Amino acid sequence: MGFSINKVHEHFVGAIEGIDLKSSLSNSDIRKLNHALDEFGVLVFRNQILTNEQQIKFSEAFGNIELAVGGNVTKEKDRRLSLEIADVSNLDKDGKIFARNDRRRMFNLGNRLWHSDSSYRKIPAKCSLLSCHSKPSSGGNTEFAFMPAAYDALDDKIKKEIEELVTEHSLIYSRGLLGFSEFTNEERETFKPVLQALVRKNETTDRKSIYLSAHIGTIVGWEMPEARDFIRELTEHATSRDFVYAHEWSIGDLVVWDNRQCMHRVRPFKDTGEPRDMRRTTIAGQEETTKQTN
Ligand code: OGA
Ligand code: MN
Repeated sequence: MGFSINKVHEHFVGAIEGIDLKSSLSNSDIRKLNHALDEFGVLVFRNQILTNEQQIKFSEAFGNIELAVGGNVTKEKDRRLSLEIADVSNLDKDGKIFARNDRRRMFNLGNRLWHSDSSYRKIPAKCSLLSCHSKPSSGGNTEFAFMPAAYDALDDKIKKEIEELVTEHSLIYSRGLLGFSEFTNEERETFKPVLQALVRKNETTDRKSIYLSAHIGTIVGWEMPEARDFIRELTEHATSRDFVYAHEWSIGDLVVWDNRQCMHRVRPFKDTGEPRDMRRTTIAGQEETTKQTN
């Protein structure tokens, strides 16, 4: 397929035109898309109304689906969507909007903090694909921050200081930032912290990223307050407006982002009043970040 890619931000984000995500892709299309993800970090596709099955099929162009287990507090019997899809809507299994005090809503508010998907997993996600099926009348943009550009802008002293650092990530830490701290014993076990490298390198572009996420709770070998202060400073730098693209959704948009190279967050909207039906497929990563060599 002769699709084209237009860069829409100074540093990253490719808008892809001339592709129908329902049709089957050649190996060369798949290579080109994966290469574009390495280079642009975020890929935007407009006017693609897909069924869940079609989204899953297209997602497999990027690798193997990571199932939505161990990443939320929704019981399997209460799921609206199959395990191949992370339900990031504000809807329950009957399509009703979560009540204001619903525990799942409280937990999902964590998506408003800058994060990288599944950084709380031992092998974190490669990329995510999010489709818009309904949207609120205002708010609810998703913002993306490009970590290679943020890394490049660090001064050499900081680059050296962070090169070998290892961080601890957990959903308990990110939810704790919003004061969500009541977890069952089973959840505590599932959400046990994992280790991640703070600096990652993209093998295709050779560019380094700061691997940040709201899931970070400390740095190995550091006292927690010092670690959190340091991570907060880095995050503030990495999410300054120069490195951020805000996606304003239309129904039928599908956005793919590279979790190895980007952070993202959803902006506020009146989530107790209007449905926002967003469905995410996630592609599994291949190895532990602490085993990668820069
Ligand atoms: C996600 C997420 C963003 C959004 O899908 O991983 O963080 O816009 N949500 O809902
Ligand atoms: Mn996310």
